[in-house]
Amino acid sequence: MFEQQTLWITGASSGIGEALAVEFAGLGARVILSARREDALQRVKDSCIAAAGSAGGIWVLPLDITDEAGMADKVEQARAFSGRIDMLVNNAGISQRSSCLETDMATYRTLFEVDVFGQIALTKAVLPLMVAQGSGHIAVTASVAGKMGAPFRTGYCAAKHAVMGFFDALRAEVAHQGIRVTTITPGFIRTAISENALSGDGSRFGKTDKYIAAGMDVTDCARGIVKGLQKGRPEIAVGNGIEMHGLWLKRFFPGLVFKAMADQYQKQIDNNEAV
Ligand SMILES: NC(=O)c1ccc[n+]([C@@H]2O[C@H](COP(=O)([O-])OP(=O)(O)OC[C@H]3O[C@@H](n4cnc5c(N)ncnc54)[C@H](OP(=O)(O)O)[C@@H]3O)[C@@H](O)[C@H]2O)c1
Repeated sequence: MFEQQTLWITGASSGIGEALAVEFAGLGARVILSARREDALQRVKDSCIAAAGSAGGIWVLPLDITDEAGMADKVEQARAFSGRIDMLVNNAGISQRSSCLETDMATYRTLFEVDVFGQIALTKAVLPLMVAQGSGHIAVTASVAGKMGAPFRTGYCAAKHAVMGFFDALRAEVAHQGIRVTTITPGFIRTAISENALSGDGSRFGKTDKYIAAGMDVTDCARGIVKGLQKGRPEIAVGNGIEMHGLWLKRFFPGLVFKAMADQYQKQIDNNEAV
């Protein structure tokens, strides 16, 4: 299904974005790889070429998702690779590991710049192209944290809830223009997300927490996402831990989830465990 389609993935230099890129390349897609670290993107490009069996149609396009002024130029460069963009996967993101009391406003703003405004700005820049094409697919890697609140992640949860609302609303606006929108809600996936997460003062957390360490394998996660995208699903939930039950529990028994989260927070504080 993705053969000869041009898919643009942000946050492609590691984790879920990297695994998605390799899966898509293996399915014959043309893939544009974006993130800030060009050296890491080159490494992912090599993996994509190995999966695709050919070097044609895998491109590196370094991009800082917070650079709104440079966005139009990046979209033009992305379009120039193959003449079109069939799918944009807004996957770049950073998480948080700090309580509200410990978190600086500047850290909240950084989380929103990367996880919300960056996704909106790039989507807005790509959308006119898809409208002109009369087709396209926009996906966003939100999170289970976009459906329920979890301690030590007030800013991350707020950002992922915001993203969920933006893309749900966008889906309605573009549905009759041949453009699909998919929100992806992964649970805990074994990537560098916790190491790269922000502490309260904005510094790098630098550790893999126990939830991520016990999370789903990233290739399994990418395969689940690809399957959902192939089926044209508007929402894809992917994960294999207890957090996935939280999705329906929150919907039907929110009080149970609120209590479980409060108890978890207190337990972590009592055990002197940061997260
Ligand atoms: N792992 C999980 O458990 C989990 C669960 C739910 C949702 N998610 C979401 O999945 C997405 C991918 O995360 P991951 O788990 O794969 O973590 P990861 O390994 O830390 O990957 C994050 C990616 O985002 C990129 N990125 C960060 N800031 C950026 C910026 N300013 N501009 C452009 N790219 C930027 C990073 O690349 P550079 O550093 O090279 O820029 C990297 O490629 C995120 O949106 C995350 O919130 C993850």
